[in-house]
Parts: sequence; C-alpha cells; structure tokens
Amino acid sequence: MEVTLKIFRYDPDKETKGNHSEYAIDVDENATVLDGLMEVKSSHDSSLSFKGSCRTGLCGDCSVQVNGKGTVACRTTLAKAVKKGKDGVVSVDPLYPAKKIKDLIYNQNDFLLEKYKSMKPWVVSNLAHGAREDEVSDSTIKELQRVMSCTMCGLCDQGCLVIAVDEQYVGPAALNKVYRVVMDPRDSSKREKLEFASGARKVWDCTHCFEATAHCPKDVRPTESIFELRDMAIKHGIGHGRPVNHHKSFAASVKNDGWLDETRLAIETEGWFNLPGLLKLGPVGLRAFMKRKAPLPYFLHKKRKGADAIKRIFNKWERES
Ligand code: SF4
Ligand code: FES
Repeated sequence: MEVTLKIFRYDPDKETKGNHSEYAIDVDENATVLDGLMEVKSSHDSSLSFKGSCRTGLCGDCSVQVNGKGTVACRTTLAKAVKKGKDGVVSVDPLYPAKKIKDLIYNQNDFLLEKYKSMKPWVVSNLAHGAREDEVSDSTIKELQRVMSCTMCGLCDQGCLVIAVDEQYVGPAALNKVYRVVMDPRDSSKREKLEFASGARKVWDCTHCFEATAHCPKDVRPTESIFELRDMAIKHGIGHGRPVNHHKSFAASVKNDGWLDETRLAIETEGWFNLPGLLKLGPVGLRAFMKRKAPLPYFLHKKRKGADAIKRIFNKWERES
C-alpha cells in the first residue's frame, strides 16, 4: 500500500518554528501509523524523532495527532487514516498543547507528569512498620481495573476543552489517578486527597463535556472518575462555592421537578445572599429576555410529567450509593 505521510519536523538547534515534510512510503496493508514512522526513519530520514515502545497500545508512549486528532500511533492503521486524511495524505503532529522538543517528541513533564505528581497519587498507609501487608480483595481490584488501565498516554488531556483554554488546569489524566488511589482501601489519606482535588483548577473546573472519555483509547473513562470524585467530595462535606452550589442545585432541581429550573440554577449557583454575584446575573437575564430565551421565573417553573418517577430514581440511587 502506498501512503504519503505529512510529518511535523522541528529541530530546536536550527529553527524556532517547525515545518511539515511529506514522505511517500510503501507499507503493508495492516501497517499502523507507528510502522509508517519507522519506515520513514529507516528509508528516508534517520533523523526523524518520535516515541514508541510496546507497539501494542500498552505503554502510551506513541501518542501523536493523526489528521488533527489525538491517538496512539501503534493502534491506528494507515489504511483507516488515509480515508480521513486531506487528499489522502496522512498528517502526523505532536500532541497539543505540549511543548515540542524535536519533531514528534514533546515535553511530557509540564503537560502531564508535573500535574500528575502535584496530585500525590500514591497510597498512604497507616499500617505500623513491620505489620502484615495490607490485602486488597479481588472484587476491589476488579472495580479498580478500569482506572488502573490508564497508560498515561495524555490523550484525554489533549482532548480536554478546559486545558485548551487554561493550561494550568490539572486535567483528567491526573484526576483519574487520584480517583484510583482514593478508592484504594489501603489509603488512609482519602479526605486530604479529596480536599486537595477540590482546590482551584482541579475537579470542579471540569465542564462535563466528556471529551476526555471520548479520547481515551483504553476505556478508562476519566470523565466518570472526575464525577465520582465530586460526589465523594460532596458526601464528605468538602468543596464550596459556585461549582458545588451549581452541582447541588442542578441535582435538586431535576430530582424535585423532573427537569432543570434554569432561573433557580443561576440564583443558587451564585448563592442567595451573594449580592454582587446576583447583580452580575442581571445583564445576562436581560439579554436572554430580549432574545426570548429567558427561562420562566422561579415561581412559575412547574413539575414535568413523570417527575415522580424521576424522584424515585434519585431516591433509589441515594439509598444505594
Ligand atoms: S485516562 Fe485514558 S486517555 Fe487519559 S492518560 Fe489514561 S489512558 Fe490516556
Ligand atoms: S508504542 Fe506503546 S502504546 Fe504505542
């Protein structure tokens, strides 16, 4: 199969910006993007730099953008990539917004590892020194398997819409690791971890877009891990301010009325006694009213049909969780 790869090339010793170069290669029908990169390196330009190790999707080392979308190069076939490429050309770029080091190699430290370390995602055991090793049951390990299969490929952070506007946001990969440890029965620092994860630019900054889960090649579902952390924080009485108010008001509104009361949500998110916050809502409400998009006032919001059934679902979930 003949394929043209358009690869981002960048040498910090020679240039300040990078450029794309095209390479025509002849590869097997089942070849992956990583195979293609290796072919370019062996037959066209041995200076091409990229990462890859296991070649089976296990190490998360070969993350790149293929045709503008983050993926692991060793699990993406060229045959599929060609169909999605512009004019049949497959583009390969380093992950965004990581800082580039050379060609497709990017700096994992700022982008991923420093954030990961900042969350202290390790088990803190209160077992006395020399005591028998703590055991974790098979059922717990099974429950944790989903989150433990994270390879730190960084694709969820690459897809995260919050990181796209705020690179300091700690991101779904690091938060997923916190969730993994908080759920570990050997950990004795659950509360501290939840408190830390509830701080600025962490768990409450997620906008529920599910891009992290959609981008994950290992079905780790990091967005769901963030939601679990939020629920645990609320149950432990941790977290405060607008995001928590928003979360509680949203749930209470749907639980009681079967659908969202947007006026109530806006007011309760700011807080009933937060006068400056409530005043800020005025212009937004006025603009919505002018465009005939203003929700019904608080006191006119009615229960929807079937609200009682929705309430029963909430009650059941609250009893069982
Ligand atoms: S959660 Fe998924 S996408 Fe994110 S780093 Fe782990 S394996 Fe990669
Ligand atoms: S080389 Fe290990 S995931 Fe691709």
